Amino acid sequence: MSDQALDWIVNALRENINQNDQQLVWCTDENALNGLPNLPHANLQVITNRWDIAQQAQNRKLPVQFSDFNFSHQGDGTLDGFFYRVSKEKPLVHHLLNQAWRCLKMGGELWLSGFKNDGTKTYIEKIATLLGCEKSIQKNGQVYSAQLIKNAPFDAHQQLDTNDYERVRPIAAESGLKLVSKPGLFGWNKIDAGSALLITQLDSVFANRSVPQTCLDLGCGYGYLTVAAARLAVAAGITNWILTDNNAAALQIAAENLRINQINGEVIGADAGAGIHIKVDLLLCNPPFHQGFSVDGDLTDKFLANASRLLSPDGIAVFVVNQFIPLERKATPFFRQVKTLTDNGSFKVVSLSR
Ligand SMILES: C[S@@+](CC[C@H](N)C(=O)[O-])C[C@H]1O[C@@H](n2cnc3c(N)ncnc32)[C@H](O)[C@@H]1O
Repeated sequence: MSDQALDWIVNALRENINQNDQQLVWCTDENALNGLPNLPHANLQVITNRWDIAQQAQNRKLPVQFSDFNFSHQGDGTLDGFFYRVSKEKPLVHHLLNQAWRCLKMGGELWLSGFKNDGTKTYIEKIATLLGCEKSIQKNGQVYSAQLIKNAPFDAHQQLDTNDYERVRPIAAESGLKLVSKPGLFGWNKIDAGSALLITQLDSVFANRSVPQTCLDLGCGYGYLTVAAARLAVAAGITNWILTDNNAAALQIAAENLRINQINGEVIGADAGAGIHIKVDLLLCNPPFHQGFSVDGDLTDKFLANASRLLSPDGIAVFVVNQFIPLERKATPFFRQVKTLTDNGSFKVVSLSR
């Protein structure tokens, strides 16, 4: 299904690319759901925090930066155009609006679009005030869009509140685990209740099995599953922890959590584990079921298919999902043994082996 707000941004890009020698930036996250459009790339820089989108951009020879929307390299007043379909999380939206204000030249243009329930109208109003321009909003059904011109110089004291977007900080001290995190990644400041339930099942999973030596944390986020599992006796034999995600902030923070917990492992950027070619004895996963702004059943299939591919013949995968996801049925084509270990009415933990 196409995203009309994204379509508006893509049309604006098409109309502006290759006009003179302008410096244009397009910030795109998970909303470029159906793949990147074909765009001329003479003067466009794509910035994305998604591994899969960065790969697509590279394949299309678009200049791309894969980062947690890090603008430290971009000088003040250096851009002619900044294109952005608003994201889900407010701290990230505010971070990018602040960067647009700082990095645009005087007279440069911010092209912004999003749905009503993304809070887009408020974002447009706030940033228009800071840019010192008219709040002329185009409304098309539920989509709000605006082309805003920078008339006021950047003032760091007036910036929108980002909850200190870039700062890495300790979280969940009450858990007794040493964890850091930051805005910009899934459930960044708490321990996911489903993931915590998965950890409670690991002792029983290994009651009658040989202890694992390698573990893959598929869709690792800030690395909770690895850090929590590494403290258990059943994990004492694991000498190699591999963590993977497709979100830039998750990769950065997971690496930091390995470091501060002195866990020997590596962090790999990948789309649902695609492109990783190792075999592991244990695979832990709390798969995403949202893609962009909608529920996506195919994503679960993609995670299951890669889990099956990455598991050694005697290995075991342990998944946790929301209770309403038919994981057992979905897993059957990929695994011979599918066992629901626990179901607390909100989440269920399922073990899978070939
Ligand atoms: C429900 S969260 C679980 C995070 C973490 N494992 C935990 O237990 O707290 C799902 C994770 O999958 C990641 N993810 C979403 N789509 C992905 C994809 N296509 N490939 C890899 N990871 C993805 C998200 O960035 C997020 O970190």
